[in-house]
Amino acid sequence: MCGISGIISTKNISKRLVNGIRNLEYRGYDSCGVALSNGKGNIAVKKNIGVVDEVDKMEGLSMMRGKVGIAHTRWATHGTVSQDNTHPHLSCKGDFACVHNGIISNYRSLKESLQKEGHKFLSETDTEVIPHLLEKYYAKTKDVEKAFVEALEQLDGTYAIAMISLYELDKIYCAKFESPLILGIGEDANYIGSDFNAFIEYTKNSVILDSGEYAIVTSGSYTVKDMLRMEPVEKETLKISWDAEMSKKGGYPHYMLKEIYEQPQAIVNAMGIDSHKIREIAEAASKSGQTYLLGVGTTFYVAKYGQYAFSNFGKRFFPCISSDEFLNLAEIDENTLLIALSQSGETYDTLNAIRFAKKEGAKVAAVVNVIGSTLSRTADYSILQGSGPEICVISTKAAISQMVILTRIAMELGVIQGKISELEKNELERHILELPDTIQKVLNENSGILNTLALRYSKIKNWLYLGRGIYYPVALESALKMKEVAYVHAEGMPAGFLKHGTIAMIDPEHYAVAFVPPKECEELYNLTMGSIEEIKARKGFVLGFYFNDTDVNGDLFDEKIVLPSMHPVAAPFLQLIAAQLFAYFTAIALKRNVDKPRSLAKSVTVA
Ligand code: G6P
Repeated sequence: MCGISGIISTKNISKRLVNGIRNLEYRGYDSCGVALSNGKGNIAVKKNIGVVDEVDKMEGLSMMRGKVGIAHTRWATHGTVSQDNTHPHLSCKGDFACVHNGIISNYRSLKESLQKEGHKFLSETDTEVIPHLLEKYYAKTKDVEKAFVEALEQLDGTYAIAMISLYELDKIYCAKFESPLILGIGEDANYIGSDFNAFIEYTKNSVILDSGEYAIVTSGSYTVKDMLRMEPVEKETLKISWDAEMSKKGGYPHYMLKEIYEQPQAIVNAMGIDSHKIREIAEAASKSGQTYLLGVGTTFYVAKYGQYAFSNFGKRFFPCISSDEFLNLAEIDENTLLIALSQSGETYDTLNAIRFAKKEGAKVAAVVNVIGSTLSRTADYSILQGSGPEICVISTKAAISQMVILTRIAMELGVIQGKISELEKNELERHILELPDTIQKVLNENSGILNTLALRYSKIKNWLYLGRGIYYPVALESALKMKEVAYVHAEGMPAGFLKHGTIAMIDPEHYAVAFVPPKECEELYNLTMGSIEEIKARKGFVLGFYFNDTDVNGDLFDEKIVLPSMHPVAAPFLQLIAAQLFAYFTAIALKRNVDKPRSLAKSVTVA
């Protein structure tokens, strides 16, 4: 949700700076801009509507010259997408330039009083109050650092801010309150970024700012201070284990396809996570008075998947709540455990739920992909899933990996509770370990037919995605993929729920996808087939995703994707992967912006 890049060096930085926001585009991509100084008494700002490459072409961002600069790629929250609303924003005299990620919730009152004092605003953004506040407090203190801290004290809400000033052109100031911000410590330069991707090509050494901290960064040094006391804080340097190559497309036309193809490895990595880490969370869940599962968007559906896994293997029912609704539903005390899922570890809704729960004394376990993220650092038990960078806004490999990890925790809980034996658990794990090879086979052998089907049905405007049991969250997540990437309406529903209302819609013009479990899940299989019969009785169209079991009545399906037979613990993953591909190819047929779908951002750090 908006990307910030800042660099200060002894050399010209414009290309690196533009590269930084290009690599952060998945956080927001409606407009972007750069503020740069060559140290000779002015700050040049260039910005416009469009993705980084378009704006670079229009405005010549990477042709600018300077050794200190900040840049921003925007995902509009306050104010339309316009050149004026694009960051960086300047003070009246142009002596302070700022970029910001987050929301300043009291900006209206701040803006009103600044306007009364004579400040002229050019944009509708909340951000623009920051350079004007800096100008005001600098006039009073004649000290950039004091002005910065005084300005920060006025702000309510959430922010990551980077600022350059004409009065100290050898420094970048930056601050963090809840929105992510990290420093990159390089050889000839130091960096600021919303995440590692801003600078991973240049350095792997980073320092993660905590809420309430600000930093003063020069080309050869950095100091992190506490906002309240303005005193230095000791910070650890973290070595990033991802490398720049992992964040590249590597010959695939889109990151989404690359990441779908990386799922076998993501599963291997998830299965390789230290069993002590898995055990720790399973034990905490076993001891808890109440365990909640939470996530939002894809991770809510991952949490739902986990809910079924906990009921199936751990024989414990854990409520699953979408993070944005958590405060409206959950009852928390010191015996509560939250199991939170998040790819980015920075999603506002999830962090907000966690802060609330922690205040009430609850414990938090997290499964997170991004190293050093806020969630991974605030949780009491944290599992880094090790899926590698997921760049496409649509989550695929991170979600699959989390589902595997939750299944492992659920099985471990089953062992702790005496519901399954250690031997049974090992046997189930062995079946999950068969997945990477089988997925590879599905990717190789089913992509062609999925592409053909996607082309054939790309004009369909509405789909119903049906599944029972653990195939219900598979249906939900598969439908979300279709909505996010192809902008086609798809509704996930329990297949058994169909007859209680929605069936009224079924006619020959109605399109459904049915996720059929393996035949050995007898009851679930029969019930799902029953729902399909109900659709066929009304001449509705059914695309069936089923397994290569013998004697499935294939005549019931108008189209089908037949997947290799697998043990029930592993089978749902294959269905989800096939559905990801179906959504991907539909998006291609409809010429959608696959890696950066309209209106979405990978990490939503606002309420
Ligand atoms: C945003 C993204 C979704 C994602 C959700 C949760 O809304 O557009 O694709 O599923 O955030 O993100 P997280 O990083 O917490 O998994």
